[in-house]
Amino acid sequence: MQNSGLQSKERKLKPVKQACLSPSDYTYLCDFVKTRSGVVLSQDKESLIDSYLLPVARENSLKDVKELISALRAGRAGLANQVINAMMTHETFFFRDGKPFDVFRDHMLPTLKKARQKEKHLKIWSAGCSSGQEPYTISLILKEKALSKWNIDILGTDISPVIIEQAKRGIYTQSEVQRGLPVQYLVKYFKQLDCDWQLVPEIRNLVKYQVRNLMDDFQALGPFDIILCRNVLCLFDYQTKARVLDGIAKILAPDGYLVLGAGETVLGISNQFRKLEGKRGIYQPCAEVLEKSS
Ligand SMILES: C[S@@+](CC[C@H](N)C(=O)[O-])C[C@H]1O[C@@H](n2cnc3c(N)ncnc32)[C@H](O)[C@@H]1O
Repeated sequence: MQNSGLQSKERKLKPVKQACLSPSDYTYLCDFVKTRSGVVLSQDKESLIDSYLLPVARENSLKDVKELISALRAGRAGLANQVINAMMTHETFFFRDGKPFDVFRDHMLPTLKKARQKEKHLKIWSAGCSSGQEPYTISLILKEKALSKWNIDILGTDISPVIIEQAKRGIYTQSEVQRGLPVQYLVKYFKQLDCDWQLVPEIRNLVKYQVRNLMDDFQALGPFDIILCRNVLCLFDYQTKARVLDGIAKILAPDGYLVLGAGETVLGISNQFRKLEGKRGIYQPCAEVLEKSS
């Protein structure tokens, strides 16, 4: 992930003097981000608004964030996407949290391989894929599993067009490839470009990317055997989480898997999934709910 994303900025930038946003402008910004993306801005973000939005203001020849919000309010073309991109948390890394990828390799994949022996087709969706480390981690594992005669579709989607372009390029900095990626994958599947590293086409080409907002209807993308929606639901409020989980339940195969982030759960939000025994953050559709709705 490079030069975009809220958390990377948090690491690089010191909070600057609080933006001179009036309470009404700040409320407008929060409502704007929530309506467009479902993302709820937490209170502690207010003091960092300048760090996120000043570069957008400058790129658009606006004096400061206050002027930027005025232009946004006035509906200036092209600003909405730039503001949404700047306010998003794009934090991600290869093999993030480790365990779910062990479960993918050692449980989900062998189980689905058996179940799909006839059709030899698997569909996997990384929803909110950021700069691509998550879907590429899946591709790297699949490559090592040599499922050569299988037709495997991996789709990565994100609300941010900028981050999707970055994901497509598959170029990562030295510190990004040092974060979570086992060195044997780096040696085997990346090519060095000056200071950066690019994934080889045979891994990049395994993933198709699309700009997609989870607030929009996504039923046409399915069905999927595995859906990863990690560290995205936690950005939403209860109603939005419930709506997204409801949509996911409709397009996940009855024997498919939903993978959430380490701090996320369906508990108390949706009764359409059951936890995979002993595997944190991994769910399958609930048989009783499926029977009732059929
Ligand atoms: C914290 S990153 C998670 C990346 C990856 N899934 C992981 O766990 O490493 C969250 C991503 O969700 C995306 N996102 C936020 N709201 C979204 C929405 N409404 N629709 C699609 N993507 C969204 C952000 O742009 C960001 O790239």
